[in-house]
Amino acid sequence: MTHDLADHVVLITGGASGIGAAVAAAAVEGGAQVVIGDLNEDAIHRTVSALGPAATGHRLDVTDEESWSRFVKATLETHGRIDGLVNNAGTATGHSLFDTSPNEMATVMAVNTMGPFLGVRAVVPYMWERNSGSIVNVCSGGSLTGLRSNVAYGTSKYALRGLTKMLVHELGGYGIRVNSVFPGHVNTTLSRPGWSAEAIGAGTSLADVALGRTALPGEIAEAICFLLSDAASYCTGAELVVDGGLTSVLPRRGDE
Ligand code: NAI
Repeated sequence: MTHDLADHVVLITGGASGIGAAVAAAAVEGGAQVVIGDLNEDAIHRTVSALGPAATGHRLDVTDEESWSRFVKATLETHGRIDGLVNNAGTATGHSLFDTSPNEMATVMAVNTMGPFLGVRAVVPYMWERNSGSIVNVCSGGSLTGLRSNVAYGTSKYALRGLTKMLVHELGGYGIRVNSVFPGHVNTTLSRPGWSAEAIGAGTSLADVALGRTALPGEIAEAICFLLSDAASYCTGAELVVDGGLTSVLPRRGDE
């Protein structure tokens, strides 16, 4: 399915791989101009080359305010406007409480929570001058339930869910919609050592996914592109769960 994003300029953090690259592909298919921001410059180059002239990319460290300024400036120089922001870049370590150092906690919070905060601050001035914009924050099933052995990740994603809610009223008056998606287990080429679908949902087997399988990145991208598009013109504050039913049931007991 294609969501109509004709003439939309959409920024996608972490867009060089995984879910972000799938969002970029789906948005281009819908007619958008996409600008990928990612730490991994080789991956940016590969993804942008595959997507053709509707895609550009720049190095972005979402934890760094100056990096955001440069990214937004480059986007405006090329496109002159910003219609959408997908806060998708993320990291996780898969560690339990006493295996998570304070530095590690700070790093995960910086990427997964502070990054979207800085991103919203960087782009909103260019949305409110046109009284229009759509921001999508990529949360996690771990924003809805606890996770086994992933203290930093789960905390950061709960906070991102909270940030989303905080922005709904503040930005609604400027015509800016802010929504979140909650993926479950997604098949991605995971870029971080120790970060795998297993690490993210440690101890949760596919038996607890109602649909009995992991998601393709494109299935998460569809939900995100819907929220970016004008088809979602009355959606703000929505929490769109795209997890195959993972967070809808209590885990099985051993004898079931
Ligand atoms: P991925 O590892 O394939 O992609 C993440 C991208 O973020 C990479 O390209 C990486 O270079 C980039 N990145 C990391 N730190 C960055 C920084 N400081 N600045 C800019 N870019 C940075 O991972 P995936 O699976 O595509 O994850 C995307 C989002 O989806 C993340 O927020 C993740 O938490 C979320 N998610 C993923 C799930 C999964 O099962 N794969 C499940 C639930 C949520």
